[in-house]
Amino acid sequence: MQLLTAPNTLTQVSPIRQSSRTPGKLRLSYHLDCSMPFRNSQRASAESPHVRKPLQKAAVRPPNTAKTTAIASRAPAQQENCYFITCHPGCEEAVEMELVQIGIKRMRRGRAGVKFKGSLLDGYRVVLWTRVGIRVLMLLAEEMLDPGLSGGDGLYDVVRSCGVDWAELIPPGSTFSIEPRLWSCTNINSTRLLWQRVKDAVRDDVSDARSERLQPPLPGKIADVPLYVAAFEDCISIYRDLSGLSLHRRGYREKMHRSALNESAAAGILTLAGWGSFCSQEGATLVDPMCGSATFLLEAAQIAHNRAPGLSRPQSSWPLRSWPDFDASAWRLAREEAQDLATPKWNGLLLGNDAHAGAIALAKQDAQAAGVPRSCLHLHHGSCESWQLPFGPPSLVVTNPPWGLRLGEAVGAAAPRPG
Ligand SMILES: C[S@@+](CC[C@H](N)C(=O)[O-])C[C@H]1O[C@@H](n2cnc3c(N)ncnc32)[C@H](O)[C@@H]1O
Repeated sequence: MQLLTAPNTLTQVSPIRQSSRTPGKLRLSYHLDCSMPFRNSQRASAESPHVRKPLQKAAVRPPNTAKTTAIASRAPAQQENCYFITCHPGCEEAVEMELVQIGIKRMRRGRAGVKFKGSLLDGYRVVLWTRVGIRVLMLLAEEMLDPGLSGGDGLYDVVRSCGVDWAELIPPGSTFSIEPRLWSCTNINSTRLLWQRVKDAVRDDVSDARSERLQPPLPGKIADVPLYVAAFEDCISIYRDLSGLSLHRRGYREKMHRSALNESAAAGILTLAGWGSFCSQEGATLVDPMCGSATFLLEAAQIAHNRAPGLSRPQSSWPLRSWPDFDASAWRLAREEAQDLATPKWNGLLLGNDAHAGAIALAKQDAQAAGVPRSCLHLHHGSCESWQLPFGPPSLVVTNPPWGLRLGEAVGAAAPRPG
C-alpha cells in the first residue's frame, strides 16, 4: 500500500507511514512540505503554454508577405496538426501516460504541458478524454518576432503576416478572445501589450477582409473562437483552444469546498500513483482520510469506470463545434467511442473521511451529480485519527491534508463556486 499526499510539487510524494499491526484501523502520521499546495486561486497561474528549446538564429524567418490559407481551416480530419496540452507543473508525465492510452504516438514533454502531433480526430479524442490536461490547444502559426521592430509593431506584423486567414478562421458574427502568456521576450514586457496587439491585428485583418468589427464574447461567456498566444524568447505561437472552459471543470460541481483540490491535479496525482492499474485489480480500495469534498475519490471513480470526462459536459459548451473546419462525423465518432468504452460496473471501493460535516455533505452531493454508484463510495464523518476502516486494508491511500492557516479550527466550509 502507498500513501500519497498532494503537496506543492509532485516530487514530494511521501511514502507510507502506517502501522500495519491493526488491520482495518488507519493510523497515519503524515509529513510533507505543502507550503503551496494546489488551490483554486492558483489554477490559472499553474497553467502555462509550452516552453520550447530556443530557436537558433538561423530559424528566424522573415514575416510572410503572401497570405496563405489558415493551417486549421484547410484541415481535413486526417491532416496532421500540432497540439499543446497544458497541465499543472509536475503532471507532464501523467499527461504523456494519458496520450499513450488515447493512441497518440508522437509527443514531446514541455514545462507545464506536452506537445503532440495528430489528426483532428486525435484532437477531439484528447479533449474528450484528458483528465490531467487543462487545455488542448491546436497550433495555427509559429513565428519569430523581428528584433528590429518595437514590441507592439513586431507583434502586429507577425499576426497579420503569419499565414492564418483570420477572416476564414473566425466566421461572420462570431466572437473571439485572446489568452496571452509571456516569457523572456526582448521587446515585449507586458502581457497586456501582447493581448492588445494580437487582438488589434486579428480584428484589423478581419475588418479589411469583410468590413466587420469583431467583438469579444459577453461577460462570463466563452468566445466562439478562443485563441491562445504564447510569446517565449521572441517566438510567437498562436493556438486555437479546443477546450473552451478549462477542462478541470467536470460539470458536476455547483458548490466548492473552500480548499478543494483542482480536479486535473487530483487526476494527475492518481495517475502517477498508479490508480489506473490498481483499480482494475480484484478488491481495489482507495482511501482518503481527509477527503473534503472527495475530489480524489470522485476522480478515482471516473478512472475506474473509464468514463471520459468530456462526455459529461453539455455539447453546447464546446466552441469547436461552430468552427468552419468542424468535422461532425469525427466528433461523433470520438464521442461514440468514449461512450462505448465506459464500464458501468466496477467492484472496487472508495472510502472517504473528513472531520467537517459540511464537506461530507458536499462530497455526497457531488458524487450523486457525477453519477458515482452509491455501492462503491463510503463516506464517514469524524477525525481520521479514530477512523475505523469498514473494510480490509486499502490498495492506496491518497490525501490532501490541511495546511497553513487552515490547520486547527478553520477547516473548509462550503462556499458557492465563483462565476
Ligand atoms: C485541503 S482540505 C481537502 C480538500 C479535498 N482534497 C477536496 O478536494 O475537497 C483538508 C481537509 O482535511 C480535513 N481535516 C483536517 N483535519 C482532519 C482530521 N484530523 N481528520 C479528518 N479530516 C481532517 C478538513 O476538514 C478538510 O476538509
